[in-house]
Amino acid sequence: EKGGHDYFMLKEIEEQPEALTNTLRGHFSGGGVVLDEQRISEQDFRDINKVFVVACGTAYHSGLLAKYAIEHWCRIPVEVELASEFRYRDPVLGRDTLVVAISQSGETADTLEAVRHARTQHARVLAISNTNGSQIPRESDAVLYTHAGPEIGVAATKTFLSQIAANYLVGLALAQARGTKYADELEHEFSELAAMPEAVRSVLDTVPRVRDLATRMCEAKAVLFLGRHVGYPVALEGALKLKELAYMHAEGFAAGELKHGPIALIEDGLPVVVQMPSVKGNSHLHAKLVSNIREIQARGARTIVIAEEGDEVVRPFADELVEIPAVPTLLQPLVSTVPLQVLAAEIARHRGFDVDKPRNLAKSVTVE
Ligand code: F6R
Repeated sequence: EKGGHDYFMLKEIEEQPEALTNTLRGHFSGGGVVLDEQRISEQDFRDINKVFVVACGTAYHSGLLAKYAIEHWCRIPVEVELASEFRYRDPVLGRDTLVVAISQSGETADTLEAVRHARTQHARVLAISNTNGSQIPRESDAVLYTHAGPEIGVAATKTFLSQIAANYLVGLALAQARGTKYADELEHEFSELAAMPEAVRSVLDTVPRVRDLATRMCEAKAVLFLGRHVGYPVALEGALKLKELAYMHAEGFAAGELKHGPIALIEDGLPVVVQMPSVKGNSHLHAKLVSNIREIQARGARTIVIAEEGDEVVRPFADELVEIPAVPTLLQPLVSTVPLQVLAAEIARHRGFDVDKPRNLAKSVTVE
């Protein structure tokens, strides 16, 4: 039932194109986004002028990406917050606020309490979940299900990619309601999303290369992950996967912060995984990342670079290069996360750990 794999997580990593297809299916028709449940009136949805995204763990990382898309497309401010922090402060919420609660299980205690708090403050709540009829969707005003299928591995993989796609659909729904995008622009954005299952399928070709890389990284004392813009949440996610599966010290940093502290950690042989922005689509950031790589290489770091196919600029600075297909900037995390999932799982396997059931963790965290 593991589909010929040593562990479920690898099977689930390989199911990601299908999980994305299923998440997109039925959620865009007649030129617009269709939610699974919508109890927010059209007028109220149009009047939303502030968005909070609340979630925990990997779901939170997907939420960080929602900010880039929603602010860009809808021109409304978006705050992304850990559910466990949000509920214990006094966030400014009202009828014009949309709280997007992301939870694979739909049962995470902190996310559920954040939803309850938002509702007492009269905010509208939209749930993104992979579990039909779970508590968070039940207590929300609108629901978008990810349809990624059941995830057996404790570490989230296909549900993470599906959450990213779902977040973007919510962004398009808001853009549509607010009129910040014309119908043909919505169609265009959706068609780019719809092309992603194929791109993810092609990034799976890197699996053997990353497995090989993993054999050479399992003795590292620590691993750092650097990224910028949409590559920053990916760096956080890569580090989380490595911590939870391989029990290694791993940190994700925004590359622009390097000089403000983290560069002090760089020492001889330290592996640093770098997410490169698109060389064409984001050339100014690309140049900044190249100079970060030079700085850390000069201090002895071993650079593992995740870059677009055909990125000849970064090649000379990469000790190890993993090539991913070129896709639009906002969608890059859907392909660039995949090698990091494989890296963490394979390092864990080499270290002799149970990839599907990491110690001390549960699939659904129903207590605080
Ligand atoms: C990490 C992981 C966790 C969950 C988090 C939220 O691989 O799986 O960090 O993402 O516990 O769970 P849900 O999405 O069910 O609320």
